[in-house]
Amino acid sequence: MAKPVPPTGRGSGEPPGRDGIQAHAPRIAEAIRDVGKIGVDPAGGWTRLAFSDEERAAHEVVARWLDQLGLKVDQDAIGNTWVRREGTNPDGVPIVVGSHLDTVPQGGRFDGVAGVVAMVETMRILEEHSVETSHPVVGIIFSAEEGARFGEPCIGSKAVAGTIDESHLTRLRDAAGATAADAMVSVGLDPERVTNVRWGRDDAAAFLELHIEQGRLLEANKAAIGLVDVVSGSTRMRVTVTGEAGHSGASPMRNRADAMAAAAQMILAVESLAKDPFHRGLRGTVGWIDVHPNSATTIPGRVSMMVDVRDVDSDRQREATGEILRKLRGISELRGVEMDAEVVADTSPAVLSMWLRELLREVCVGLSMDFRVLSSGAGHDAQIMAHLLPSALVFVPSAGGVSHHPDEWTSPEAIAKGVDVLVGSLIRLDDVLSSTVG
Ligand code: GLV
Ligand code: MN
Ligand code: MN
Repeated sequence: MAKPVPPTGRGSGEPPGRDGIQAHAPRIAEAIRDVGKIGVDPAGGWTRLAFSDEERAAHEVVARWLDQLGLKVDQDAIGNTWVRREGTNPDGVPIVVGSHLDTVPQGGRFDGVAGVVAMVETMRILEEHSVETSHPVVGIIFSAEEGARFGEPCIGSKAVAGTIDESHLTRLRDAAGATAADAMVSVGLDPERVTNVRWGRDDAAAFLELHIEQGRLLEANKAAIGLVDVVSGSTRMRVTVTGEAGHSGASPMRNRADAMAAAAQMILAVESLAKDPFHRGLRGTVGWIDVHPNSATTIPGRVSMMVDVRDVDSDRQREATGEILRKLRGISELRGVEMDAEVVADTSPAVLSMWLRELLREVCVGLSMDFRVLSSGAGHDAQIMAHLLPSALVFVPSAGGVSHHPDEWTSPEAIAKGVDVLVGSLIRLDDVLSSTVG
């Protein structure tokens, strides 16, 4: 059949009609609801950690939907689930669309899920309208995107990009001491085959990811779509402070080596450095801390904490990390405690493809969709894929900018607008690639 014109606008939210292709908001709402049945945390929010049974269960549910569309679904050794819809050109290199389904502890319903549901809706639309593309379209659900469990973010996409190996997976540890490799094995995955997951330059032509903004800019500007230019990098360090445990009543204040008091001063030092106008744009956070022996009547003898440093500029990210380390060392010397710091993960920022963003911009204009170009403070699989192939990140608004929190919210209608942009861009990209690569 002839290629349909890109979608013409949102309309009533009714199923796609004959005169245009539109994402179906109620179907998107149902899919978000169904994924949200997995990993409901009794303490609040959703917990589907990287390489957990809950993450796997979510992949299986979405794989079933894709299978019901009659498409071939597969899984690789790192736990990425992918689906392929063939194109008409037998030599066509796939256009890839996707995101992730894992969450932070007590996270929200939309981070990652919105992009996966958008990928499923895209596949449904292509199938329902018998849209012929020259290039195959691959939908992918990356595993272990969140760095919350192991410190390392985007493990699934890093395996695809070839920037993570088995030895790294055996070094990464969660709070309970399990390695990422152990966690993978416990859910039936195979860390020894991680290098097989790697894609070559000819395995994909471009990557598109839809994601919630996790910020307030789109909402504040009443814009439906964000087109991301730069994605922030992150450096994560596990800092261990060792002092001397002792009786909280019997030990005089003057001779103490209180690991917790030293760690508290270090945490404030991270915050004040990141707030310094010189470091404008930098984000410094200590979001995880482990205290030993964690007793109300014992001076803390050992504290471990994770320091997360982010910036959209690679030099600033790494230089600030060095400066933080120097400050923390100074505090440890002043307080007479030992300090050990290990860089657990170091992910570079990424400048996303300008020509691809321009293509998306034209699609937004064609759809009369109000858009903004913006950068991302959060990390994304698209930033990893960008090292391998032209990649684009499409944001849809987050209510109040709330994210990594149970109150995360984006309306199905807002996601549907993003899907319209995704589908329109895919069709346009298919044309562009056909005319430039033959
Ligand atoms: C992913 O959500 C991140 O922590 O940036
Ligand atoms: Mn995400
Ligand atoms: Mn996240």
